[in-house]
Amino acid sequence: MSPASAYAPGRVEFLGNHTDYNQGVVLAAAIDRGLTVAGISRQDEAIIFTSKTSGAGIQTSLQRLQQQADERWANYPLGVVQQFLNEGYELRGFAAEVSGDVPAGAGLSSSAAFEVATAGLLMKLHEIRMEPLAIAKLCQRAENEFVGVQSGLLDQVTSVFGRANHLVYLDCQSEEVRTIPFPAGFALVIAESGVRHSLVAGEYNRRREECTAAAEALGAESLRDVTPDHLELARASLDPVLYQRAAHIVGENDRVWRAVNALAEADVAEVGVLMNASHESSRTNFENSTPELDQMVTIAQSLPGVLGSRLTGGGFGGGTVTLVEAAEAEEVVEALRAKYAEASGHRPAAFVCQIADGAAAAWKL
Ligand code: GLA
Repeated sequence: MSPASAYAPGRVEFLGNHTDYNQGVVLAAAIDRGLTVAGISRQDEAIIFTSKTSGAGIQTSLQRLQQQADERWANYPLGVVQQFLNEGYELRGFAAEVSGDVPAGAGLSSSAAFEVATAGLLMKLHEIRMEPLAIAKLCQRAENEFVGVQSGLLDQVTSVFGRANHLVYLDCQSEEVRTIPFPAGFALVIAESGVRHSLVAGEYNRRREECTAAAEALGAESLRDVTPDHLELARASLDPVLYQRAAHIVGENDRVWRAVNALAEADVAEVGVLMNASHESSRTNFENSTPELDQMVTIAQSLPGVLGSRLTGGGFGGGTVTLVEAAEAEEVVEALRAKYAEASGHRPAAFVCQIADGAAAAWKL
């Protein structure tokens, strides 16, 4: 039995916040940070996962896949194992180690990178072939069913379909995935607010429930099918909180479509304006920002060379993404670190991110 390994990148959500599980549209990119899961098959049914970074480890078995209450990080790969079993694949036991450089809890989807890399390892160890979209959906089910986070398809699709120097456009209703060139001469800066979030903590699932309730109250199958006009007409009869949640989703879908058009016309300034509007809507409508994220975004927006800035990912902590002129990118990183540290007392991790290939390209699928 020979060892194998699979790499999958983290992702940054560029625009389209919480739209994925509302059947909406989103723009994201795979980043040049990710996780590798390396392993080898065993003669028995044991499954062993260890984390190179933390030194932690778990052991369970194929017959009794158990959720890990103490080592929650292990539920992401174990959920993937469970989905392979559900699909009828005959797996052998294996021992695997995860390593990499995408920070957990920073809004860069280390979880999807972990799931996708685990799927890649299982495919290699067992010579299984699967279509890229099927891999992404299997990993999403792992997160929904085993980890218990009702997340959408954004993270896994981006980790699988990412392409160097391109944004990934995902339409969650039609499941169309395509890549759009990232504008030349511009770059993305990612910064961590230093406040860790845990999607499992419940806020995320609560937002999802509120969105479902809003769609129901509006007589729509999902918020994807609600137009801005429809929403405004119904406003008076809608619970104010549900109106706010719906306004965020309807607005985000609209901003994604406008950004796609603006990118086609090389109107990068307009894309920045849309990112700023997205953050404002997170802050006021969806209430998934935090004072730290607001502060970080406000600082970024004040810096020379910045076109727009917003929180990225689930929110409730995590990090921000900032669109900058490439020539100013390193200075923006320095100034953002210094000013945020001055304001908050916490020196944030911030870096210029290269938009990288996703797992499908790395595995030559
Ligand atoms: C998290 C989820 C994604 C998506 C974003 C918000 O990253 O995992 O599915 O909902 O939040 O856009």
